[in-house]
Amino acid sequence: MAATSGAREVFGTRAGFILAAAGSAVGLGNMWRFSYQASEGGGAAFVLLYIGMTIILGIPLMLAEFSIGRAGRRAPVGALRKLAGPGWGRVGWLFAVGPLLILSYYSVIAGWTVRYAIESIATGFPEEAAEHFGRVATGQGAIAYHVGFMAATLAVVMAGVKGGIERASLILMPALFFIVVGLAIWATTLSGGAAGYRVYLQPEISALSDPAVWRAAAAQSFFSLSLGMGAMITFASYLERTHDLPESATIVSFTDFGVAFVSGLVVFPVIYSLGLQGAVSESTVGALFIALPGAFESMGLVGHVVGLFFFVVLAVGALTSAISLLEVVTSSVIDEFGVPRKAAAVGVAVTAAVLGLLPATSLDALGLMDKIAGEFALVIGTLLIAIVAGWVARGTVTDELLAGTSPFWRRQVPRIVLAIRYVVPVLIVIVLVFSSGETVKAVRDFLGG
Ligand code: TRP
Repeated sequence: MAATSGAREVFGTRAGFILAAAGSAVGLGNMWRFSYQASEGGGAAFVLLYIGMTIILGIPLMLAEFSIGRAGRRAPVGALRKLAGPGWGRVGWLFAVGPLLILSYYSVIAGWTVRYAIESIATGFPEEAAEHFGRVATGQGAIAYHVGFMAATLAVVMAGVKGGIERASLILMPALFFIVVGLAIWATTLSGGAAGYRVYLQPEISALSDPAVWRAAAAQSFFSLSLGMGAMITFASYLERTHDLPESATIVSFTDFGVAFVSGLVVFPVIYSLGLQGAVSESTVGALFIALPGAFESMGLVGHVVGLFFFVVLAVGALTSAISLLEVVTSSVIDEFGVPRKAAAVGVAVTAAVLGLLPATSLDALGLMDKIAGEFALVIGTLLIAIVAGWVARGTVTDELLAGTSPFWRRQVPRIVLAIRYVVPVLIVIVLVFSSGETVKAVRDFLGG
């Protein structure tokens, strides 16, 4: 059925939408950021806290985005304008600028994962892993892989919601689940991995008294679930009203958590069986792109194969997330300026590729962009969404949550709305207070150093 002019594209299947949303959520945030935060935040204590945050913050916020998107049937700018008025529409541009910035550095990191996947079988990883990462992370090579990755993302988004995003998600997501589980099973065979499981799975309760751990758990759940940047608004704008939103949000959130948790079951035993824990606490990127390749290399042939799968999973996760980031911005350009999809997607991808030249030449710039766009702007975004869904357009949002919903979830809707109105904004403001301090400090350090 050809789309008539003016008709909005739609997802073809329920699984297609759920896997596309899960594809947005599952990404570099799960595979690495999660393990790193867990090791900093008391292992299983962090994991439990994270589950709690996902339930009381993540799922309600995802539902806020889903219902704004489906009720508005527009990309974030148009959806907010329709539900909350022209002022909110202008604020909605945050949900185009933010994802554009995230996409620009996310694609640089994704480029590294593609390069590592290729190197793991083509050449193996060099002995001096840290020097190698230094050469790979910035400069011409980094730019080339960044641009190549952006081109792949663009190819999917140009093909449209059903023919591109849905089709890619239906193939890539099952492949990703399969490989991550396979890697976790393989990791159980490592001698000396027990120490890793212990650190990961034994709760260190004292970590819970540290407010920084709570903030980290909340911020991690926003980033990992792709909240606060309008990605879920955009995907839901391509949904029919017969779709059960609360059930989908629950499935997507727990899938995201599941992949993060299982990734930890790969990363921890590998790192500990090779005695590399020092490298983990040194830096996030360091452990992923320095310690793990070193570990794989020391395992000989098996390490090459495992390394290949590991970095392929990272690249696939990054691709489905980048697709959602490119789609949010593209979709606002299509809706607001009436530009055809292909032209809009090319324009946005080229802009993001050019912006990415900065993080592709400076790791400091990359870190700063992550703090500003990937953490601070994203927390602001979640607050705006909670205000619109819980206060400004509460009636519309409540109707939307009930439409197409099964009796069990219909009974939960009043509770979900209460969470969106009171619990979520209060917790976000607390997170924001901590994040602002850190962001200001990061900007100062960047300018001063
Ligand atoms: N959730 C992705 C990850 O875990 C990153 C991501 C994709 C994202 N789309 C987003 C983050 C939108 C915030 C907003 O890697």
